[in-house]
Amino acid sequence: MSKSLQAIRGMNDILPEQTPVWRYFEGTVSRLLDNYGYKQIRMPIVEFTELFKRSIGEVTDIVEKEMYTFDDRNGDSLTLRPEGTAACVRAVLEHGITGGGQVQKLWYIGPMFRHERPQKGRYRQFHQIGLEVFNLDGPDIDAELIIMTWRLWGELGIRDAVKLELNSLGTSESRGRYREALVEYLSAHHDKLDEDSQRRLKTNPLRVLDTKNADTQAVLVDAPKMADYLDEESRAHFEGLKARLDAVGIPYVLNPKLVRGLDYYSKTVFEWVTDKLGAQGTVCAGGRYDGLVEQMGGKPTPGVGFAMGIERLVLMLETLEQIPQELARQVDVYLCAFGEEAELAGLALAERVRDQLPNLRLQVNAGAGSFKSQFKKADKSGALFALILGDDEMAQQVVGFKPLRGQGEQQSIAWDALAAHLATCVVQG
Ligand code: HAM
Repeated sequence: MSKSLQAIRGMNDILPEQTPVWRYFEGTVSRLLDNYGYKQIRMPIVEFTELFKRSIGEVTDIVEKEMYTFDDRNGDSLTLRPEGTAACVRAVLEHGITGGGQVQKLWYIGPMFRHERPQKGRYRQFHQIGLEVFNLDGPDIDAELIIMTWRLWGELGIRDAVKLELNSLGTSESRGRYREALVEYLSAHHDKLDEDSQRRLKTNPLRVLDTKNADTQAVLVDAPKMADYLDEESRAHFEGLKARLDAVGIPYVLNPKLVRGLDYYSKTVFEWVTDKLGAQGTVCAGGRYDGLVEQMGGKPTPGVGFAMGIERLVLMLETLEQIPQELARQVDVYLCAFGEEAELAGLALAERVRDQLPNLRLQVNAGAGSFKSQFKKADKSGALFALILGDDEMAQQVVGFKPLRGQGEQQSIAWDALAAHLATCVVQG
């Protein structure tokens, strides 16, 4: 027997019962971004592999072991995007839309691909909503990004369940000085480090700060502190950000070990984390990357951005039971018609009602069926009301208007008056 076809591990179907929550989440975020003046950009899902190597960094987990890379038929090495920042930088450079200091406030949404070990909240195809701002170098825009997400958590009803962690990595000069000091210290304690940290010490020493190994963490207690190496510019920037968050009343925790898994960051880095999802607790993360555009071949252009994981936020809405009740109902009204003549009249009537009430969710029974079976379908659809067209109703040019959720008795409504009547009893989304 042939093996049945299955989706790839870590790549999920999002089934019809789940899509309402996704659409609610995506709608809420896109409305918010519109209101703050961000514009959407759409980039391809596949890019030249070189793009990610050069931007994310050769010695990061993503580039070393998580990319879906393949040769296309021309022999070019291509990669399914593991994140959106690199492609967004490539796009703004290619189209020259950040030239001459033009400010761009952009956002994107879509699938990303990383060959990680799948578990709850961590997938191989996952979805992000991300945003990137170019040509603004002050802490005010860093603050705006964080304030905007804070508002989002409020609108979604999950504000109490997330915590903001903040750090500054400094400019590349101050980070370079810190890296030297850290390497010197860690080298002196080389034997006490776990194997992975010993390797990282050589390739990407700042990532040692991120270790989960208890022995290495003990060594890190007395390690040099990044904050002591920040230059004046980075310090002032960080203070400026904190002052703005304080002014708006957004609580945060300073986490000097927050270094992020991508190499392009400078100055501000932040993560919104939750303890409601188990091990995969970061729901939104980002920071400033003032050197990236230049590193990719453009003029010096400051940049800052973040991305949130849609799967994780949807999981949070479910876990915290913050899914608006009205999402459960997808149909307002269900029209049942009995007999061919009634079916034809029903179709025409439904279209007239839709002309007048474009937001009404009106489902017309398909596949005919007995009185009993059509009612069963009407009830199962979740509709508030059934419209009934049988021989009697046809003769009188009315519809039977039957509440399905216990809001009163069935009545007869003239065809011409139906839309007006529906407008009074269905709250339209
Ligand atoms: P990132 O931290 O790699 O940053 O990912 C951002 C968010 O995407 C994570 O906080 C998480 O919510 C979600 N995420 C990442 N990997 C997975 C996965 N395997 N499964 C489910 N969700 C996941 C970036 O991607 C940067 N491009 C963010 C950025 C934009 N920085 C500046 N601009």
